[in-house]
Amino acid sequence: MSEVLRCENLHKVFITGDEKIHVLRGIDLVVEKGECVSIMGPSGVGKSTLLHILGGLERPTEGNVWVDGEEIYKKSDREISEIRNKKIGFVFQFHHLLSGFTALENVMIPMFMKGVNTEDAKKKALSLLSEVGMLERKDHIPSKLSGGERQRIAIARALANDPLILFLDEPTGNLDEEHAREVLELIESLIERRKLTVLLVTHNERVAKIGKRMYNLIGGKLEERNAM
Ligand SMILES: Nc1ncnc2c1ncn2[C@@H]1O[C@H](COP(=O)(O)OP(=O)(O)OP(=O)(O)O)[C@@H](O)[C@H]1O
Ligand SMILES: [Mg+2]
Repeated sequence: MSEVLRCENLHKVFITGDEKIHVLRGIDLVVEKGECVSIMGPSGVGKSTLLHILGGLERPTEGNVWVDGEEIYKKSDREISEIRNKKIGFVFQFHHLLSGFTALENVMIPMFMKGVNTEDAKKKALSLLSEVGMLERKDHIPSKLSGGERQRIAIARALANDPLILFLDEPTGNLDEEHAREVLELIESLIERRKLTVLLVTHNERVAKIGKRMYNLIGGKLEERNAM
């Protein structure tokens, strides 16, 4: 197996006014190709912070992150965004779709950023939208879509450039039970069909079970859980 993601001794301290919050206190993790790893923890424990740091979106206070063997925070912000665009798929806790663009355009944009031409980007975006069951919603803007539909579009967008690793931040967090179950089934079938490498964070036990290797995030550190 080959290593897709590695971090060593990650720390994150947020300073707001006089207050200093030491959220992450020494995180070590390796994710190999084809693995599905989940991290569980209650609200405010630092799950999104950790995922953002691992996904090249936020510099750690201390420690290092390697994506596909490259130490990303040694690089410039521009180089990091390039690595992100090519190698990382990110499904955010609050979808982050671009509000002025249709579902189809939202899925095409990461391909444009990589230099793919319009015709090829459109073809692939349509095929991804069909894979997530959203073809008939392709011309809708995000505000005209339901929460579950937005999440499906966000998943299609995250897969647009065939990422080496897919990060999922609370992928069903803002959905009711029925829609959460449907999105979860979609994620599980995509993992199976596409042999995806996944790192997900959640407060939900059922979602965490997608992981073949599971951790708890407690007191700024990871503790491995025994899979049942
Ligand atoms: N930019 C920031 N500036 C200051 N504090 C922050 C910042 N981002 C996060 N925090 C704080 O860091 C802690 C961890 O936040 P984070 O969003 O990572 O938690 P989480 O586990 O994802 O929570 P949730 O389950 O509610 O999404 C919180 O106390 C939060 O207030
Ligand atoms: Mg969060």
